[in-house]
Amino acid sequence: MSDTDDSRLEAALAAIAGAADGDALEAQRIAALGKQGWVSLALKTLGAMSAEERLVAGPRIQAMRAAVAEAIAERKKALDSKALEAQLASEVLDLTLPAPATPRGTVHPVSQVMDELAEVFADMGFSVATGPEIEDDWHNFTALNMPESHPARAMHDTFYFPDEGAERTFDRAPNSRRTLLRTHTSPVQIRSMVEHGAPLRIIAPGRVYRSDSDATHTPMFHQVEGLVIDEGIHLGHLKWTLETFLKAFFERDDIVLRLRPSYFPFTEPSVEVDVGFAIENGRRVLGGSGDAPGHAWMELLGSGMVNRRVIEMSGLDPDRWQGFAFGVGVDRLAMLKYGMDDLRAFFDGDARWLAHYGFSPFDQPTLSGGVGARA
Ligand code: DAH
Repeated sequence: MSDTDDSRLEAALAAIAGAADGDALEAQRIAALGKQGWVSLALKTLGAMSAEERLVAGPRIQAMRAAVAEAIAERKKALDSKALEAQLASEVLDLTLPAPATPRGTVHPVSQVMDELAEVFADMGFSVATGPEIEDDWHNFTALNMPESHPARAMHDTFYFPDEGAERTFDRAPNSRRTLLRTHTSPVQIRSMVEHGAPLRIIAPGRVYRSDSDATHTPMFHQVEGLVIDEGIHLGHLKWTLETFLKAFFERDDIVLRLRPSYFPFTEPSVEVDVGFAIENGRRVLGGSGDAPGHAWMELLGSGMVNRRVIEMSGLDPDRWQGFAFGVGVDRLAMLKYGMDDLRAFFDGDARWLAHYGFSPFDQPTLSGGVGARA
C-alpha cells in the first residue's frame, strides 16, 4: 500500500471528525465507502493482484475500511447527542403557567340517581342486589307467579333469544328454560330469596328490556326493585318505607302518597302508588295532596305484599315469612327530579346533553351532605 493511501486515510478521518452535521458526515461516508468511494475502489484492486500481493494489501485495506466506519459511527453519536442537548436547551418549561384545561366527563343522570337510591336505602338497612340481564323465563315469569299461559306474559313485549334446537316454542323439552332479556328487575327478588333466604332487605337497580319505543318508552330502560322479607311484615311497613324513600329522594317533606288497589301476579294484595304534584313554571313538581287545589295525582310505582306462591317457589315457608316488594322506573325518577322531558335523549349519547344534565364525579350523594346533586 502506498503512502498516498495513508495520507488519504488521515485526511478522511480528519474530515469525518470535523463534519459539522449529518449531511456533511453522509457526504464523507459516500466519498469513502460509497460505490465509487476510494475505499471501495481500493478493495476492487485486490481482484487484480497476485496471491502474495493480496496477502499484504488485503488486511491493510480492510483495516482502512474499519477505521473509516468506526470514525463515522463515533462522529454520528457525537452529532446526535449535540442535537439532543440543543433541543433540551431550547425547550423551556415554565412551571408557573396554568395547566391546560382537560375536558372532563360527567356522571350520567341514571348512574347518579342509582347512587342516590342506594344511599337512601342503605340508611334503612337495605343492600344492593344484582341479577343477570339475560334471564330465563322461570326467574322472569314462572317463579313470579306468571305460568306459561298467563296473559301478563303477553303484556311484557319480551325479547326472546332463539330457542336452540326447537323449531317452535311448543317443541321445547319439558322444563327447559327459554332465555330472554329480562323485562323487569323483579327476577332479582327470586334470585335473592333463593340465594340468601330470609330475612332480606334489598334493592336491585338495573337495565330492563321491552320491545317498545316512543317518547316515553325505549327498548332498554332502568328499574329499581325493592324487596323486604321478614316475620310479621305488613302493608304499614310498605307504606312507611315508600314514604320515607320518596321524601328523602325528592328532598321534600310534603310528599303525599295515595295507595290504589291494583293487580300484579307476584303481589297479593297489589297497590299502585300515586304521588300528588302541581305544575310550576311548566314543570311537574312533586308535593302536596293530589286532591288539593291546583294539584293532581300521578302514578309513580307498583308494589304490594309478596304473593305467598312467590315466597314458596323461592324455597321459603310462606307461613313464617312475609314481605313487600315494589318496582319503579329509574329514568322516570331522574326525569321528575332533574327536569328532563324526553326519555330518548337519555340513551342518545349526545355529549352536549350529558354536559348539561350530567353530574360532577365529585358530587357524591350522601345523606349528610344532601342526597341530591347540586344543580
Ligand atoms: N315488575 C313490575 C313491572 O315491571 C313492577 C312491579 C310492580 C314490581 C309491583 C314489584 C311490584 O316488585 O310489587 O311493571
